[in-house]
Amino acid sequence: MTTTTHTEVEHDVDEDVSDVYPEDRAWVNECVQRIRGEFAPLGTSLREIPLPPKLAGLRLYLKRESEQPSGSHKHRLAAALLTHALASGRLTPGRPVIEASSGSTAISEAWYCERLGIDFHAVVPSGTAPEKLALITQYGGQVHPVDGDIVEEAKKLTTALDGHFMDQFTYAERAYDWRGEEGLAPELIRAVPDLAWFVMGAGTGGTATSVARYGRYTGRTLRVCVTDPDHSAFFRGWRDKNPAATDKGSHIEGIGRPRVEPSFLPPLVNRMIQVHDGASVAAMRFAAAANWDIVAGPSTGTGLFGAMRVLLGMHAAGQTGAVATVMCDSGDRYVNEYYNDAWLADKQIDHKPWMPTVERFFTTGDWTPPAAYEPTPKPATTMWNM
Ligand SMILES: Cc1ncc(COP(=O)(O)O)c(C=O)c1O
Repeated sequence: MTTTTHTEVEHDVDEDVSDVYPEDRAWVNECVQRIRGEFAPLGTSLREIPLPPKLAGLRLYLKRESEQPSGSHKHRLAAALLTHALASGRLTPGRPVIEASSGSTAISEAWYCERLGIDFHAVVPSGTAPEKLALITQYGGQVHPVDGDIVEEAKKLTTALDGHFMDQFTYAERAYDWRGEEGLAPELIRAVPDLAWFVMGAGTGGTATSVARYGRYTGRTLRVCVTDPDHSAFFRGWRDKNPAATDKGSHIEGIGRPRVEPSFLPPLVNRMIQVHDGASVAAMRFAAAANWDIVAGPSTGTGLFGAMRVLLGMHAAGQTGAVATVMCDSGDRYVNEYYNDAWLADKQIDHKPWMPTVERFFTTGDWTPPAAYEPTPKPATTMWNM
C-alpha cells in the first residue's frame, strides 16, 4: 500500500479573510425564490388583429403584456433586473432601490419591491402621466419628478440614500434571460412558429434585444424592427452607426430616448422605422375604437403603426407570414393625456391627418399617408446585415 504525504502550506491567520462583501444570503435566496415562484411574471395572451382580404397570407398579432400584474411588459423587466441584481450580489438587504424611469418600469419595480419589503424610489420626468405616478405610490414607492436628465438625477439620489441604482437603461439587455423557455420571446414563438417580424419601440431596447437573441439562439430567421418616435436618438444612432447620437427625447411615454442607451444593441435590429407622434396616436386611437379589446397606451400605437408598414413591405415583396407587436400597457394610464384632445393640442401632436391612413389600411390594405409624408412603404431591408 502506498501512502501519500500532503505537505501543508501554513498561512498566516491574518490572511484568512472572509466576508469582505457580506451579504445576507438567506435574504437574497428568499427574494430570488419568491420572484421565481409566487411572483413570477405571467404568460400573456395573443390577440390576432383582422387584416383585409388584400393582405391574405399575412397575419398580425398583439401580445397583451398589459395583463401582467403590474400592467405592462415591464413586469418581466422588473423581475429580471431584481433577480440579476440579487444574484450578482449588487443588491443587499436594507438598502433602497432607485430607478430612472418614464413610469412603467418604476410601477413594476415598486410592485415587486413592496412585496419583497424593499424601499423604492423612482426618478421620473416631470411630465409623467399622473395615473402612472399614482400607481408607483400605490405600490409604496416614492416619486421624484425632475426636469433634467433622469439617469443623472437617479445617480445623485442613490449616493444621497446609499441605495442601489437599478439602471434599467444599462442592465435591461443583460438581465433578461434570452436562452430560457420562459419569457416573452419563447411564449410568442410557441404560439406563432412562423413569426417573421417582431416590431416594437425601444425604451431600454431590452425587449427587442431579448427577442432578437432568442431568435438567433433557436436558429430562426425571425427579424426585429424597432419603431422610433419623433425626437429619439435611436434611429440615427442605428442608421449612422453612431452610438453618440443625441436628440431632444420623445413625447411617446416609454420609448425614444435622447441618447443611444447602452441596453439598445443596434446590430440585433434588422430594420428601424421612424413613426411620427401623430401616427402613433392615430394607431392607438383606431385600435381603441376598433372592438379589438386593445385599449392601449401610445407606445403600442407606435409599434402597431410600424407593424402596418412591415406588413405592407411584406405584401409588396409577395411574402407571407406573421408579424407581432406588443400591447405594452393599458390606455387607462393615459386618459388625461393621449386620449385627451386638449392635451394633444397643447403638445402639438396632431393625429387627425393620420386617422384615415390607419383606417384605410385596416379596411382595404391600401397605404394612403397624408400628402406631406413619404409615399411608398420601404421594403424589408437589413442595414446591419445580420
Ligand atoms: C409604455 C412603454 N412602452 C414601451 C417601452 C419600451 O420597452 P423596452 O424598455 O423593453 O425597450 C417602455 C419602456 O420603458 C414603456 O414604458
